[in-house]
Amino acid sequence: MPEAAANIGVVGLAVMGSNLARNLASREGNTVAVYNRSRTKTDELIAEHPEAGFVPAFSYEEFASSLSVPRTAVIMVKAGGPTDAVIDELVRVFEPGDIIVDGGNALFTDTIRREKAVRDTGINFVGMGVSGGEEGALLGPSLMPGGSDESWVTLGPILRSIAAVAEGEPCVTHVGHDGAGHFVKMVHNGIEYADMQLIAEAYDLIRRGTGKSPAEIADVFAEWNRGELESYLIEITAEVLRQVDAATGTPLVDVILDQAGAKGTGAWTVQTALDLGVPVSGIAEATFARSLSSHPEQRIVSGVLPGPAEALVVADADAFVEDVRLALFASKIVAYSQGFDEIRAGAAQYGWSIDLGAISKIWRGGCIIRAQFLNRIADSYAQTPDLAVLMTAPYFVEALGRAQGAWRRIVSTAADAGIPSPAFSSSLAYYDGLRAKRLPAALIQGQRDFFGAHTYKRIDKPGTFHTLWSGDRTEIEAEDTH
Ligand code: 6PG
Repeated sequence: MPEAAANIGVVGLAVMGSNLARNLASREGNTVAVYNRSRTKTDELIAEHPEAGFVPAFSYEEFASSLSVPRTAVIMVKAGGPTDAVIDELVRVFEPGDIIVDGGNALFTDTIRREKAVRDTGINFVGMGVSGGEEGALLGPSLMPGGSDESWVTLGPILRSIAAVAEGEPCVTHVGHDGAGHFVKMVHNGIEYADMQLIAEAYDLIRRGTGKSPAEIADVFAEWNRGELESYLIEITAEVLRQVDAATGTPLVDVILDQAGAKGTGAWTVQTALDLGVPVSGIAEATFARSLSSHPEQRIVSGVLPGPAEALVVADADAFVEDVRLALFASKIVAYSQGFDEIRAGAAQYGWSIDLGAISKIWRGGCIIRAQFLNRIADSYAQTPDLAVLMTAPYFVEALGRAQGAWRRIVSTAADAGIPSPAFSSSLAYYDGLRAKRLPAALIQGQRDFFGAHTYKRIDKPGTFHTLWSGDRTEIEAEDTH
């Protein structure tokens, strides 16, 4: 084995790791060291890809000595315990100034903890979001690294060389310190959940409202993909709907069990948003919709729970499909807007300086939620970097104004027909909540004060007040109650 032959290494050679290693090796100037816990995977990768010029290592000591200084290694193993085990090994064989990158879907609070622990040894630890699945890892993912400024000096050029390119720019930026990269990747996945649920609701409404077949609905999605909804998820939806099951000859979507899986990143996005007090209702409904689908014992399909007598029949199929398209577009704007709000709140809470415009740009290529309208998000932040609510940017205000009539028709049609549309309807409720001059929160404050003396503020004068509900119901300055 040549000494210090490689400028970067990859640990964990399952499909994501080996594809990322091949991507790295294919770029000018890179020589890639590879290590896997079981030797077979390493041997297979070397045998299958001689063109990559990999430097194989069969122990952590060998791996470390095959890397030039500062040693840089990307870990691509399962989140949780396996990641901690690899970090421990690398910390043992690396030296101060070296860089350990975790490219798995780690929980950002784990990344904050690991970064702190590793920093104490003088080694840099970088939590990096990697999006784009197997193909993205091989051909160009969207990359969301956190970690120190020092590590970015070494990592920046390497990551720029392997990332997807959108509008001539590599889809990677230094997101922020410690867990910022994994936080942003988590929110990316939350938006992904919302986007997928919205598309699924659109499909369901069109199918039940117009009687179109999956293949015909595939044509609708293919058409939508030529307009403002253009995105990877719309594109693959058309392909999924067109697929015919070889065994039965029926559309594949009709023989797939209707119980959605989840690895947990959607739930993390919602749990974190609850802690931060950010209403990501579209993402939450999408996550809960997966939970509802995957509890067959709770799904009452026997007719016990009454529904509307009539099935949905729409008079004008084309007009209905156009309404669904607009409802989807408006709800999608809400999902992204809520996601960006969560990133802003997370940055404030954890002390990260995150450039929201840069995030929208690195999501334009490589990742699962890549979509044409991310350009409009980037434009919006370029015009107003401190935009409080993304969807109040002029482009989105115009789009929502154009869509809201259709959006309301679709949500009420779905409710009348008993067709679940949790993400469409919660997104509309959020939109109307933001628009409301007055919210019934005033009543909630009254209730809280009634049973718990939690106090309230008034609209007409400063101070904090409490009403003596059980006495003569006079109002007193709250400070007086203590
Ligand atoms: C990506 C994906 C990727 C993975 C999801 C799937 O950005 O490339 O988001 O990270 O496919 O974790 O998540 P679920 O299994 O929870 O749907």
